[in-house]
Amino acid sequence: MSAPVQKKRLRFVSGVQFKLALGFFVLIAALLILLNTYPVAASRDIVFSEKESSLSEQASVISASLAGLDTLSGDGVAQVMDLLGLSGLERIIVTDAAARVLYDTASTPAEGKLALISEIILALNSRRVFYCDFSGGAFVSRAAMPISRDGAVVGAVYICERDTEQADIILAFRDRLATVSLVAFALACALTYVFTQRFTTRITRLSQAIRTVREGDYAQRVVPDGRDELTELYSDFNSMTETLQKTEEQRRRFVSDASHELKTPLAAIRLLADSITETEGMDMGTVREFVADISSEAERLQRTTEKLLDLSRRDDGVRANSVAVNVGETAESTLRLLAPLAEGNSVTLNCDAEPGCIVLAPEDDMYQIIFNLAENAIKYNVPEGSVNVKVHCDEGFIILSVEDTGIGIPDDDLPNIFSRFYRVDKARSRERGGSGLGLSIVHDAVAALGGKINVCARDGGGTRFTVTLPAWNEEVGT
Ligand SMILES: Nc1ncnc2c1ncn2[C@@H]1O[C@H](COP(=O)(O)OP(=O)(O)OP(=O)(O)O)[C@@H](O)[C@H]1O
Ligand SMILES: [Mg+2]
Repeated sequence: MSAPVQKKRLRFVSGVQFKLALGFFVLIAALLILLNTYPVAASRDIVFSEKESSLSEQASVISASLAGLDTLSGDGVAQVMDLLGLSGLERIIVTDAAARVLYDTASTPAEGKLALISEIILALNSRRVFYCDFSGGAFVSRAAMPISRDGAVVGAVYICERDTEQADIILAFRDRLATVSLVAFALACALTYVFTQRFTTRITRLSQAIRTVREGDYAQRVVPDGRDELTELYSDFNSMTETLQKTEEQRRRFVSDASHELKTPLAAIRLLADSITETEGMDMGTVREFVADISSEAERLQRTTEKLLDLSRRDDGVRANSVAVNVGETAESTLRLLAPLAEGNSVTLNCDAEPGCIVLAPEDDMYQIIFNLAENAIKYNVPEGSVNVKVHCDEGFIILSVEDTGIGIPDDDLPNIFSRFYRVDKARSRERGGSGLGLSIVHDAVAALGGKINVCARDGGGTRFTVTLPAWNEEVGT
């Protein structure tokens, strides 16, 4: 493999691997971020609402208790607070309507001073206030409530709580999630690497195989290694290269057979021509004999090239226009043409054609099918033998059978007789001027008409070819 191609392939592979890995990383990272934020935020919100209800309730209790006092004074408030016996709060402030502190549980109480705390100001304006904060490793919650008597605000109560216990639980939960996420991330990265590495290695194998096939090595196969779509791709690739290999083998065989077929008569012509020119004083009779031989070899050459051209046109899909052809009439006229050959071989020709058996086909194709089958039936027959051609219609199909009492075809050769240049007995066929292409033409013509051809041994010796073609229905036009 050339260096630039190798470089390009590496870039392609690493590109695919990088994109796959990046995709996985982004997905995993998004999942882990969600895992680390959502549960913590949800638990924090639960604590917030729990704090709101508990602190608001406590503030209400204090406010209601103080509302029962005749006058709000420091001592009165202190007594009520003692009676309530509230615990767990970081700070409690009670003010009068002018925001002057009457009671304060801070380490340095601000009694007598103005309480310039926004929550108290809002409470003095008849508002119930609650704030909760989760920072510095603690939940800091603050609630304020007005103290009302006879519809008038006579003071405000402010309570503050600092909860580190629940904060610790949430922080520990967060830390544990982070550790698990870290381990999961490392594991996912390792798995992503292994997976993408394996995936790209398999793709590389396939692309290498494709390149090898492109360079002409059709024997290249990829060994399937799994049960996924890529394995299916491998099998598709293998069957594609198998077909390519077969086609290539057929092409080579065809070229070599064709050259051989053309070489033989050409060599004979040359030999005969050389003999005439190099033999001095050759008598006219021998010259005529040699020239006649040259002519028959040239004729064989012409027949072979015509058949080769016919096959090559069929391979290229070139087809003449289809017309409605009466198979029985074509059979009768073809047999009339073959009568001299049959007579020469002392073979009797019989034709039994049902009228009205029509197929839609190029006229010459139908003629080629019948001619080649009947010609073979005569050529490969025995003296005093016979050839029976029958045509009949059967449930939308036209059945043409050509049966002979000839030498027959050995069972082992039957599967090959439609192959190009295949002859059972090369010497005998050649002697009869055969090139081994007639049945290939018949096979291709029948297939192009959407029909089938079968061959079998005839009881009592000889061969039977049966061609089944779709009938043409004049009324329907198909
Ligand atoms: N009716 C038959 N009886 C016995 N053998 C046959 C018969 N038809 C075909 N064969 C055998 O099959 C071979 C292939 O036939 P095919 O018609 O393709 O070639 P061919 O007759 O040798 O030459 P071509 O038809 O091209 O002039 C023949 O060479 C012959 O050996
Ligand atoms: Mg033939």
